[in-house]
Amino acid sequence: MTTKSQALLNWVDARFPLTSNWKAHLSEYYAPKNFNFWYFFGSLALMVLVIQIVTGIFLTMHYKPDGTLNASGIPIAFASVEYIMREVPGGWLIRYMHSTGASAFFIVVYLHMFRGFLYGSYRKPRELIWVFGTLIFLCLMAEAFMGYLLPWGQMSYWGAQVIINLFSAIPVIGPDLSLVIRGDFVISDATLNRFFALHVIAVPLVLIGLVAAHIIALHEVGSNNPDGVEIKKKKDANGIPLDGIPFHPYYTVKDIVGVVVFLMFFTGVVFFWPEGGGYFLEYNNFIPADPLKTPPHIAPVWYFTPYYSVLRAVTYPLFGLDAKFWGVIAMGASVVVIAFLPWLDRSPAKSIRYRGPIFKSALAIFIVAFFILGYLGVLAPTPGRTLTAQICSVLYFGFFLLMPWYSKIDKCKPEPERVTFK
Ligand code: HEM
Repeated sequence: MTTKSQALLNWVDARFPLTSNWKAHLSEYYAPKNFNFWYFFGSLALMVLVIQIVTGIFLTMHYKPDGTLNASGIPIAFASVEYIMREVPGGWLIRYMHSTGASAFFIVVYLHMFRGFLYGSYRKPRELIWVFGTLIFLCLMAEAFMGYLLPWGQMSYWGAQVIINLFSAIPVIGPDLSLVIRGDFVISDATLNRFFALHVIAVPLVLIGLVAAHIIALHEVGSNNPDGVEIKKKKDANGIPLDGIPFHPYYTVKDIVGVVVFLMFFTGVVFFWPEGGGYFLEYNNFIPADPLKTPPHIAPVWYFTPYYSVLRAVTYPLFGLDAKFWGVIAMGASVVVIAFLPWLDRSPAKSIRYRGPIFKSALAIFIVAFFILGYLGVLAPTPGRTLTAQICSVLYFGFFLLMPWYSKIDKCKPEPERVTFK
């Protein structure tokens, strides 16, 4: 560094903790040396978050949250999206990056969460990282749901109708609650305006705050790794973990590889398959919202379908409350239960590498059940599909609720003293 740039740095450091933060979070933040493929998805989630925010800002410059009809009888919100796609220079790219980015976000976050399941990353002392993560996941779902209303297509309208109506099943407060969410007795311009406000500012603010808390908590305790052993237990004379390497440059460089590979897939989809065969953007959503015409089949976007299947799997009334109410409870519980994982898992080993056959089988069954639920959620229900969804919902909850028992009796292999790295 030249004397001048060093002098400038000293000037900044005397007023702002730049060098100390750089060291604490990058150049002297020691991460386990055995990170693998699964450790790409945290930084990728961060990058997708940035993509969504930046493309979202540009979309907001041209989008109009207005449900009234223009001179051609098309809702202004719908027409403004078409205007972005056809008239705004590069608008189609920004729009497709944002709509495809939503699906990419969920793919990346699902893989990121699965890594936690594989290596027991939610276990002590990382419980709070996990709880913040689950809150991020909930926020992400709210964000995606509200964003999907904005193009004001048939699926936006009727999807919101179905989901907001669910809230009316809650006893006593339900009908008023759904009225507050809608801002009207039906989905209308008022709903569109409040969803726009929540989608562009309120939820992103909470999301960014939670991501900051997630990473602060992570840097307090340090990362887990594929062996699930704590690298902080074995340090050298300078207090540096023996199995740790500085995050920068080692993992900044490694993460760039992940970013490049991810962008190859992402741009491939954005340029050649932006609707994702109707899974990323449903075909019905290219038809303007029509409150008088219900589409024959209403299905949520793919990332919601496992939970939607759990909702539809509940078909029995209980304690005088109808099936819809219990369906809503089951759907909510299927997400919230994830937050309790740190306290449900009693296994002596953290990583799947040293866990016994029971956990491995339980995880495999859970994943299969999750995929089947996801698949059933895009299809119209039939008695056979409902029964399958019921069986898979039981397996889904069984994975979590029976974990205190089966994780304890499982035959684990001894964990190594230090990370294994070849
Ligand atoms: C916007 C979404 C998210 C972002 C930007 C994000 C970001 C990150 C980053 C940068 C890391 C460190 C790098 C890595 O370990 O891969 C990390 C670690 C972690 N995240 Fe997330 N995350 C998000 C969502 C979630 C969710 C939904 C969960 C779980 C419910 C979760 C659980 C974890 C855990 C347990 C770790 C520590 C992993 C370990 O040390 O093995 N994260 N996250």
